[in-house]
Amino acid sequence: MPLVTGKEILAAAKKGNYGVGAFNCNNMEIVQAIVAAAEAENSPVIIQASQGAIKYAGLDYIVGLVTMAAEKAKIPVCLHLDHGTDFQQVVQCIARGFSSVMFDGSKLPLEENIAITKKIVEIAAAVGVSTEAELGKIAGTEDEITVQDKDAMFTDPKDVQYFAEKSGVDSLAVAIGTAHGQYKFEPKLDFARLDKIRSLVDIPIVMHGSSGVPDADVQKAISLGVRKINIDTNIREAFVRGLKGAMDKNPREIDPRKLLGPAREAMIAVVREKIRVFGSSGKA
Ligand code: G3H
Ligand code: 13P
Ligand code: ZN
Repeated sequence: MPLVTGKEILAAAKKGNYGVGAFNCNNMEIVQAIVAAAEAENSPVIIQASQGAIKYAGLDYIVGLVTMAAEKAKIPVCLHLDHGTDFQQVVQCIARGFSSVMFDGSKLPLEENIAITKKIVEIAAAVGVSTEAELGKIAGTEDEITVQDKDAMFTDPKDVQYFAEKSGVDSLAVAIGTAHGQYKFEPKLDFARLDKIRSLVDIPIVMHGSSGVPDADVQKAISLGVRKINIDTNIREAFVRGLKGAMDKNPREIDPRKLLGPAREAMIAVVREKIRVFGSSGKA
């Protein structure tokens, strides 16, 4: 079926009180693995591409791969831009067929973040594309967050309602203690902050840096209003594990298909497991 918007997928998730995985892709095997896993679980799915993925694969390849995968799939698929920081590129993605875009203005002053998000929301809404914005700064696992940093970086509930109303954005990524990449320590999520945020806005909340967050914590976050759960690192790990396993098993193998096939299988298993944890199995 044609691509569907993030807004539609997340509205259904809100109604059914479950979360939907947003899985990052960089190449054909990753796209195929995500769709195969979602189909096996009969789950809606969001496939997202970062600026780095677009640089690596090319915008046309990302759009071509995901659009074709969606057309063939029996489940709803959304193509989402992850962490767009460049206004022109976000608009380009809208024009080329993404069904959802994120503008990440988290490093900008609040009013500037609102102003650019609002402009993107207006353009996207005019052509039926949904939007995500970021408020607060989601750390990388290399960033050591001190107690003082915490208040400076985490989403401030006092800005949330103002931001949502002024920008008109469809979904909001928040900083509540997760980080991108492999965790060095188990993350400690600020559930009280999430609960407060949820009480202030009605739009779906997005959790970035979700790889490595214990399942029970992800499920608690879903019960507190998180609807979109971003996973990249766990897919990367599975890819390399599958690839390395195949290379170790047959060091003389030179057929890429014999190496990338097992990588794809390992990713399917991880994505299926995540979908089950998020509760979206059977919700397509
Ligand atoms: O949020 C970051 C995602 O994991 C994408 O990472 O920018 O290296 O593609 P990337
Ligand atoms: P992970 O690095 O935890 O997989 O997070 C991915 C992400 O948030 C993409 O936007
Ligand atoms: Zn992210």
